[in-house]
Amino acid sequence: MRLSRYFLPVLKETPAEAQIVSHRLMLRAGMIKQMSAGIYAWLPLGFKMLRKIENIVHEEQIRAGHIPVLMPTLQSAELWRESGRYDGYGEEMLRMQDRHGRDMLFSPTAEEMFTDTFRSYVKSYKDLPLTIYQIQWKFRDEIRPRFGVMRGREFLMKDGYNFDLTKEDALHAYNRHLVSYLRTYERMGLQAIPMRAESGPIGGDNTHEFLVLAETGESGVFYDSEITDLKFGDREVDYDNVEQCQGVLEEFTSRYARTDDTHDQAAFEAQVPEERRREARGIEVGQIFYFGTKYSEPMGATVTDAEGNKVPVHMGSHGIGVSRLLGALIEANHDENGIIWPEGVTPFHVGIVNLKQGDAAADGACEDLYKALTAKGLEPLYDDRNERAGGKFATMDLIGLPWRITVGPRGLKNGVVELTSRRTGESEELTPELAVARVAEIYAGH
Ligand SMILES: Nc1ncnc2c1ncn2[C@@H]1O[C@H](COP(=O)(O)OP(=O)(O)O)[C@@H](O)[C@H]1O
Ligand SMILES: [Mg+2]
Repeated sequence: MRLSRYFLPVLKETPAEAQIVSHRLMLRAGMIKQMSAGIYAWLPLGFKMLRKIENIVHEEQIRAGHIPVLMPTLQSAELWRESGRYDGYGEEMLRMQDRHGRDMLFSPTAEEMFTDTFRSYVKSYKDLPLTIYQIQWKFRDEIRPRFGVMRGREFLMKDGYNFDLTKEDALHAYNRHLVSYLRTYERMGLQAIPMRAESGPIGGDNTHEFLVLAETGESGVFYDSEITDLKFGDREVDYDNVEQCQGVLEEFTSRYARTDDTHDQAAFEAQVPEERRREARGIEVGQIFYFGTKYSEPMGATVTDAEGNKVPVHMGSHGIGVSRLLGALIEANHDENGIIWPEGVTPFHVGIVNLKQGDAAADGACEDLYKALTAKGLEPLYDDRNERAGGKFATMDLIGLPWRITVGPRGLKNGVVELTSRRTGESEELTPELAVARVAEIYAGH
């Protein structure tokens, strides 16, 4: 992409309405535009990042054996009456009527639609286990939408639903989700810690939230500092292997880590030596939940078991806040000049800054770099505008590409360009060929 042809409406002024850094930077970097409270238009740079995050989530879900589908955003109230949630859901549900006076709603979550789909087709235990999921817009009429995409009213969520014959099988599905979530967040360069969450009326230790530590997080968190040393890394997990998935769950959830909803000070003090006790804030980027037959029973989602009995399936639902992840990524990766995307998820791999547009040597070298990077499968953003160097650097810093190649007539006389890391600010002079090779090498593992 050439910046002269792109649509990147960066703002010079800091928008007054934005209280936290990720919201400010997303507005300033021209990623989103507020259309009404808690509802955003996704501009090219924001949309590109949303797509990248979505892709990683898809890849990791598919790797875990989960099957993507797409449900409508608008649904009839009928199913929600069947599950018993229609009246109880409250003001967060956006309700409407169609021209025939039928009650409709904008899906805040989709247990009912998935359970209905399941019961329409699946009749035998032989077709289990099954996990289907979608990445789809949700609407919750939050009383206080705030912090930009972090707490929107319309937001993109991955929601997955497992259907299993027994509780044991459903707990394996739970563990599988935990493993796939750990992988997903780490691929984005994020550490998200599974913490025991409020399970509501169902009880038991059957739900975990994943929290990214950040001062601006909405949840208070209490944890054993040893937890932050745990890394999923590049281990290969066989998602069908029950013991292996259970092992990962134990490794990542045996130490004390809870949100303020479930925090128990006495247990915290009993389980964690004082020097390892941490109290902080976190952003909830996902949640996994086993809830047994809560929906399958009232909605008649049954299968016949090996003995020929009709039994309700055991279910769970598992969500990732896809659009919220953009905010979380920025909260965890920025400095006073702007965003710093991790290499695992960046809108463009490398920026090219031409210090003297119109200079034949500089223009030619930039074009060659652009071609060479593209040929390596990388996506550069070339700032080919007729602007001063300072402005070009400021834009690159603001939008946060991890690497920048700066090209100017003076360097070219010595046969070099400059490769700069956005994160460290360190620069290296290299021949254009070596710069391309270095960038390709950096991204080879991503
Ligand atoms: N209003 C919102 N704006 C953006 N993301 C949200 C919002 N509500 C929930 N999410 C994301 O979707 C994920 C799954 O939703 P869920 O656990 O049902 O939400 P909650 O815990 O708020 O009830 C959450 O972990 C969070 O990352
Ligand atoms: Mg939640």
